Amino acid sequence: MVVARAGNACHDLGPMSTPLTVLDTLGRPMRDLRVSVTDRCNFRCTYCMPKEVFGPDHAFLPRAEILAFEEIERVVRASVALGVRKVRLTGGEPLVRRNLEALVAMLAAIDGIEDLTLTTNASLLATKAQALADAGLQRVTVSLDALDDETFMRMNDVGFGVSRVLDGIAAAGEAGLGPVKINTVVRRGLNEHAVLDLAERFRGTDTTVRFIEYMDVGHSNGWRMDDVMPAADVIAAIDARWPLEPIESAYRGEVAQRWRYLDGGGEVGVITSVTQPFCGDCTRARLSADGQLFTCLFATSGHDVRALLRSGVTDDGLADALRAIWTGRSDRYSELRTLETVDLPKVEMSFIGG
Ligand SMILES: C[S@@+](CC[C@H](N)C(=O)[O-])C[C@H]1O[C@@H](n2cnc3c(N)ncnc32)[C@H](O)[C@@H]1O
Ligand code: SF4
Repeated sequence: MVVARAGNACHDLGPMSTPLTVLDTLGRPMRDLRVSVTDRCNFRCTYCMPKEVFGPDHAFLPRAEILAFEEIERVVRASVALGVRKVRLTGGEPLVRRNLEALVAMLAAIDGIEDLTLTTNASLLATKAQALADAGLQRVTVSLDALDDETFMRMNDVGFGVSRVLDGIAAAGEAGLGPVKINTVVRRGLNEHAVLDLAERFRGTDTTVRFIEYMDVGHSNGWRMDDVMPAADVIAAIDARWPLEPIESAYRGEVAQRWRYLDGGGEVGVITSVTQPFCGDCTRARLSADGQLFTCLFATSGHDVRALLRSGVTDDGLADALRAIWTGRSDRYSELRTLETVDLPKVEMSFIGG
């Protein structure tokens, strides 16, 4: 087991340092845990759950295979004891899981979590924002790929209009779940124009838009490098209209590169996982809805934590198992990505939550 004392051997932990930190084989601490609460979604974004693969006959996880809230809470609690400080609920679409606010309340009661957040397509956010905030959720990130209905509907592929997403963003702000972050996947030839639309719409507000390079997650989205709009092109396009300057990242492991408008209009971000991989700073673990722990978004398999939970493991035994998984971690897929690895089997994004 590799451990280090913050401020000593492992000194670059930013504001979230703990006295004792579990490190992986590349010296990376476990800081963030993304919890997928369901593999289901009411959208069929073409880059994530294309209809040809996730059609009416697709077999989603049966209920018994999905972790109960109590099981999720145990894993989160054990992870926090090992150094996790940020917990993000995701999916699939997390708001389609019934009574999610009950899970939020259970997690909000765990000492040591500094950031409890949710990533959502916001289709149901307008009605749920207040209950989530009351339960202890701190912030939300909303995925929104265009501001015009035609493009947005082509991307979500279920005919869902933009206005209800914007209502959800407004409701989140009113409920105290701001500042809201917006995630926009940019796919060449599909929604490139949304870059300037979204930048313009949210300039001068406290909402930050982060443009994500379309990634080769899973094996169902037919990814090709030609479909990726490199983050450098996104920044160049915005900079040509509203000049930008880069800002330092706020903490180790921050995935978005941040840029500020020179005229004081706020900031935008880019997530460059394809053109400039950031594995060296990756402090993230992911728990799938059926209780597998993944130590890389591009992993081919996870560690079966559900089996442990259901075998009656003690809290100490659970923490030991998680520590062993993290200290054995050596993943750096994005840095090793080559034409050959693109075709290897990988887990779907909707399964482990992006
Ligand atoms: C899998 S979704 C789950 C949460 C929620 N349903 C949502 O859309 O926000 C999490 C994030 O992954 C992003 N995503 C999905 N597939 C992607 C891909 N192929 N490349 C880049 N980002 C992707 C989505 O845009 C979203 O922001
Ligand atoms: S990106 Fe989110 S909203 Fe879109 S299909 Fe995937 S899980 Fe659903």
